[in-house]
Amino acid sequence: MAISHDNTTASIYLSSTHIETIRSKLGLDHVKLIQQNVEHFTENEGAMRDSIVESYFGKDGLEFLISLIVENLPLGNSLLDLGVGTGTFFYPITARTKALQSYGLDATPRMLELFAEKNTELKLDVDVILGDMEQISLSLEVNRKERDIQIPKKFSSIVSTLALHHIPDTEAVFREVSTLVEDDGTVIFVDSIDESDDSTPDPEHAHSGFKSAKLVELAKRYFTQVDLQILDLICGDSSCDSFGNQMFLLKMQK
Ligand SMILES: C[S@@+](CC[C@H](N)C(=O)[O-])C[C@H]1O[C@@H](n2cnc3c(N)ncnc32)[C@H](O)[C@@H]1O
Repeated sequence: MAISHDNTTASIYLSSTHIETIRSKLGLDHVKLIQQNVEHFTENEGAMRDSIVESYFGKDGLEFLISLIVENLPLGNSLLDLGVGTGTFFYPITARTKALQSYGLDATPRMLELFAEKNTELKLDVDVILGDMEQISLSLEVNRKERDIQIPKKFSSIVSTLALHHIPDTEAVFREVSTLVEDDGTVIFVDSIDESDDSTPDPEHAHSGFKSAKLVELAKRYFTQVDLQILDLICGDSSCDSFGNQMFLLKMQK
């Protein structure tokens, strides 16, 4: 698979050789959970991702979440979205925050291909990064080198929606984002709360949700300003193992 979409403002190009080399340099082929995720998102979600997210929250719930994220971000930002998928949240956030440069990182090439296709109409100045949320700095470095593209060293906004529960080492993600966000920048994670001790995650999930006290404790290891909002919004899709969980927005600043 090669990802190639040219338009007047942006050119997204990730050849099949790039994909192979980047996956190999990041060791992605050796991580079983990442393999399961790539298979799941390629085969089961892909083109349907926007409607799947709508089935979780309804149109109004999705709009509420997007607006809340946008309210908490600076305008004219440089944006990095982790586990971007097909850009369900990324594109409205990029447009509404008038982001100057935006990047979507994901481990699944098919999701990035669908993400890039959306931009043929939108023509925003965006690019994709094939990478791993536990190794964000290395992912950026390998993409810069292999694809000869410019990616900022730091970002004013780092966002991630509904992806953190796929990543085993939450602390590694927080540590990485703390080094990549600008000193006056903002980091936002949206995912679900699960305070129970006995939930078993789906095979492609690392967590069935997050305990609020643990999230705040981990965040405070790397950020001085930590605000966890438990939202009046639940995942309403009975086929999802987050069904019935309340959503959170975690905002972190240095
Ligand atoms: C539930 S989807 C969320 C997509 C998008 N953020 C949204 O809200 O629709 C999770 C995404 O995380 C990606 N993903 C899973 N494990 C990853 C990892 N280790 N590094 C980067 N992306 C990963 C998957 O490929 C998938 O696109």
